Amino acid sequence: MKQNKNIFILGIESSCDDTSVAITHNNKVISNIVSSQKIHQKFGGVVPELASRSHQNNIIPVVSNALKIANIHQSQLNAIAFTRGPGLLGSLLVGTSFAKSLSLALNIPLIDVNHMKAHVIANFINNDNISFPLLCLTVSGGHTQIVFVKSIYEMEIIGETLDDSAGEAFDKSAKMLGLKYPGGPIIEKMANISNKEEKYTFPEPKIDGLNFSFSGLKTHISRFIKKEKEKNDNFIKNNLNELCFSIQKRIISILINKLIQAIKQTNIKNVAIAGGVASNKYFRNEIKKLEKELNIKTFSPEIQYSTDNAAMIALSGYYKYLKKDFAKLDIEPKARYII
Ligand code: KG4
Ligand code: ZN
Repeated sequence: MKQNKNIFILGIESSCDDTSVAITHNNKVISNIVSSQKIHQKFGGVVPELASRSHQNNIIPVVSNALKIANIHQSQLNAIAFTRGPGLLGSLLVGTSFAKSLSLALNIPLIDVNHMKAHVIANFINNDNISFPLLCLTVSGGHTQIVFVKSIYEMEIIGETLDDSAGEAFDKSAKMLGLKYPGGPIIEKMANISNKEEKYTFPEPKIDGLNFSFSGLKTHISRFIKKEKEKNDNFIKNNLNELCFSIQKRIISILINKLIQAIKQTNIKNVAIAGGVASNKYFRNEIKKLEKELNIKTFSPEIQYSTDNAAMIALSGYYKYLKKDFAKLDIEPKARYII
């Protein structure tokens, strides 16, 4: 292994529908390329077979581009980090196989990364002010978790969704409203141009402990829209922005209320959010408001590092590199992979 203080890690993320490659120099991100697959939009969700095929097409140009932007040669790399899971198996296989080949060809270590841990670690990109212990509410397309973060290396889930994730609640609600995939950013955009009043009050589920549930909300919204459309065919069209605002408000209030409960229960004063839904500005503002209310410090990753990206994989790889925590070449991806 090369012994120097200039550690360059190339990270590969291919767990869902974004092919992303990033390079870190020590704990700084020096390139982060994300190639998003537009093909899924018309299907209202990610089509696994199409996703893995697109990763195959994208991976080589995205790797070349990441090296070019970072202005380094591949011979300078110290290790290859990749997302092992959780995610779509066919998609993960493309990143995993490519990472193995590259590590073998360059004769440098291979490092496996858990995608959900990496979302938490995204908070540490360009931010040296976070201290431990930390609570992180990670909200992505497939997961909703409250994570007790003892250190970069020690994380434990203390609450999670029992059914749908909050990201799915956004995406499925958007689909019911005839909006494209992914629905979260579109709902946010529509909510922003509404009159910002909660015209429709959707119910908040009563779930014990620190767990979440979003499937009841989804069913309620679906029934409500169906009933209103029977009375007025133009119901969605006439009330789209207000519907988006009300849906956004309820999904975020469910998240915030559980987070408040977790903060009170653990008495942890450093609180972060992560994952695709953390790029929602309304959510970020609501979290910020907790600082004064609960006398805590809050953090959210830069927007480009909230949604799926390889910078968080490369940085996670860097921390594992410091511990010489490497993977063997026969490692396999895992569609279900708990923190
Ligand atoms: O973390 P992520 O990029 O991918 C997964 O690991 O799943 O999260 C994707 C999820 C999708 O459900 C998407 O609709 C949601 O994040 N999302 C948003 C916003 N941007 C992405 N939800 C609400 N508001 C946004 N601005
Ligand atoms: Zn993700």
